[in-house]
Amino acid sequence: MSRICLALLLQGSVTHEYNAFFWVMVALCGTVATGIAAFLIYCAWHYRRRSPNELPSQIDLNIPAEVTWIVLPALLFVAMFAYGMKVYFDLERPPDNSEDVYVVAKQWMWKTQHLGGQREIDTLHVPVGRAIRLNMISQDVIHSFFIPAFRIKQDVLPGRYTSIWFKATVPGTYHLFCAEYCGTEHSQMLGWIYAMDPKDYQIWLQQGAAEGSLASTGEKLFHQFGCSNCHHFSGHGRGPNLRGLYMRPVQIATGQTVIADETYIRESILQSRAKIVQGFQPIMPIFQGQLNEEQVVALIAYIKAIGPAPGAEMPSGPGEEMGDYGGIRPDLSEPVAPATKPGGR
Ligand code: CUA
Repeated sequence: MSRICLALLLQGSVTHEYNAFFWVMVALCGTVATGIAAFLIYCAWHYRRRSPNELPSQIDLNIPAEVTWIVLPALLFVAMFAYGMKVYFDLERPPDNSEDVYVVAKQWMWKTQHLGGQREIDTLHVPVGRAIRLNMISQDVIHSFFIPAFRIKQDVLPGRYTSIWFKATVPGTYHLFCAEYCGTEHSQMLGWIYAMDPKDYQIWLQQGAAEGSLASTGEKLFHQFGCSNCHHFSGHGRGPNLRGLYMRPVQIATGQTVIADETYIRESILQSRAKIVQGFQPIMPIFQGQLNEEQVVALIAYIKAIGPAPGAEMPSGPGEEMGDYGGIRPDLSEPVAPATKPGGR
């Protein structure tokens, strides 16, 4: 049993890492608390006053004892911190081969979208054995995405993407809760996670992909809202060339460099004047109020999917320090232009 747990732990599944962390902490704190209590009781009895006039003997400073009880607990606390930090970083950094799923929360439902274009409400189908990275945003107030069985809980905020990942290991149906009071029907903002055998999952995916991939929906919006009029892929448009933009450092007019992650791209769509790319004019219309979060998610999926131009030098590769930006990494596994074939992914 423990060997199975260890094997799962080594795979990097956050669920098992969390469980192990929890029990190590319980064992450690339990041992220390029991030890202190036992020592306290022993001292109370051993050093009790034996006669009404008894005076305690004077105890001199004992340097080795002082050093021991300062250094040992300090080392223990540092070890606990380091262990907790490792678990935290593992939770923040999804594995390279993780599958992206977008979650939009609103009062009072969870809308989930797969890259293939499959959409769900209050449910999420995932394959077992595959890391799933959730990119989440709220359309209104703060919600919190909570799957107790997978030991993950992450606030879902309006105006900013948050992300978390998990890997289901056993097929089954698991509870999804909203864990942040978000209004009248908060307690009914419930859902189910269906962890499926990878083969069943492929069948499920094929049944729901009629509308085309998320990126192809984004491509349609890209033309419909006129983005393509200025953002030419030749690089000669009035707006910056978006090819290969995702997770690339971008120099903005103030001289700062920002990383083109999901949150930056979303801001550049909705509040287009917030961070003007160096060398460009602030001429882009503001799309706040014209696009909903699901449309923004589709546009971002499109921008991610268009990738670098064929043969172009990729300015940033995996293995550079990219992994440190909020756990979001460049996804180079995307095909170069799936968006030209709606439903092709
Ligand atoms: Cu959404 Cu509570």
